[in-house]
Amino acid sequence: MDTAYSDVPDSPTSAPHDKPAIDSARDRGPGTLVGDTPVLWVGEPFADDGKGFWAKLEGCNPGGMKDRPALHMVERAKARGELADGAMIIESTSGTLGLGLALAGTVHQHPVTLVTDPGMEPIVHRMLAAYGAKVELVTEPHPTGGWQQARLDKVRELLDANSGSWSPDQYANPDNVDAYQSLAVELIAQLGRIDVLVCSVGTGGHSAGVARVLRRHFPDLKLVGVDTIGSTIFGQPADTRIMRGLGSSIFPGNIDYPAFDEIHWIAPQEAVWSCRTLTAEYHASGGWSVGAVALVAGWIARTSGAGTKIAAVFPDGPQRYFDTIYNDDFCRERGLLDTAPPTEPVTIDHPTDHIVQQWTRCATVVNPGEHRA
Ligand SMILES: Cc1ncc(COP(=O)(O)O)c(C=O)c1O
Repeated sequence: MDTAYSDVPDSPTSAPHDKPAIDSARDRGPGTLVGDTPVLWVGEPFADDGKGFWAKLEGCNPGGMKDRPALHMVERAKARGELADGAMIIESTSGTLGLGLALAGTVHQHPVTLVTDPGMEPIVHRMLAAYGAKVELVTEPHPTGGWQQARLDKVRELLDANSGSWSPDQYANPDNVDAYQSLAVELIAQLGRIDVLVCSVGTGGHSAGVARVLRRHFPDLKLVGVDTIGSTIFGQPADTRIMRGLGSSIFPGNIDYPAFDEIHWIAPQEAVWSCRTLTAEYHASGGWSVGAVALVAGWIARTSGAGTKIAAVFPDGPQRYFDTIYNDDFCRERGLLDTAPPTEPVTIDHPTDHIVQQWTRCATVVNPGEHRA
């Protein structure tokens, strides 16, 4: 480490008894499995000339990156008295937060009901059930807000029907953002100075939370957001999305628009190439957001000066994608196989310039939800 930082622990691998006490359930139980994830250097073929980026492997958490906000949101709600002992937790999720909430339910003894849609991988459905969560499936998308709005409507219905139940509301809950302080602190302990942070964007939680803490130490930090084509987050029209995790068909309140310096949209075949290349070359990969983030972080490395230190958050591991990204039939049927992505993204001046269909970047970041009711 090249500098000392006041809120960074001496060692990223400090023993559990050195950590600040949260409560006994968290300190002794499976909650101790969350955090202290490793970083991995990724170079060629994503970057060249000895350049590369550091990938923060959040797939090394039991469920993925969202174990952090799941535990934190539940613990804060309990501390504030919003979530009574034993009360039901209800949330809309495409999977990762669901896995985290199933863990939080076990740690803190709450029943968990998760609302999802047919896009959720069957393996995740089975894992959630095995971890003791109940899964409610919505069957029709909302006419304008898509699957996400349909899921949120169902959450409202379930909250009304179950007195005392509580929903974390990951899209607007500031604790979803605060939860990533630990990730930022780990990154600083592992990497020291960081110049560029590359994050995928779904609820906006980890990009906002990690960047906020890093900028306290490195005010010149550049934040690069990664979205999928067909997502409305950064001002594109909604379209069918194959990629899960990143992207949205609503405008989540947790997205910190002014924090971003530039954004990239990635197409599914580009993420597939990236995921499969990571798996073959680095034995560390993940889902759609991992592939998308790696592609962008590699390009940033190639086009930045030598010595620029880039951190990229890999939100999960590859296991749940073995029937999609890593399944040849799934990919072939959708035309996602054997296409190497372009070496450069298309650049547009404004998100409304045209509807993006392939890897595209834009340095003008606007909040398209700002003027909506
Ligand atoms: C696998 C995966 N990647 C990326 C994201 C986006 O992260 P965030 O919601 O913090 O913007 C999510 C969110 O659900 C996710 O599940």
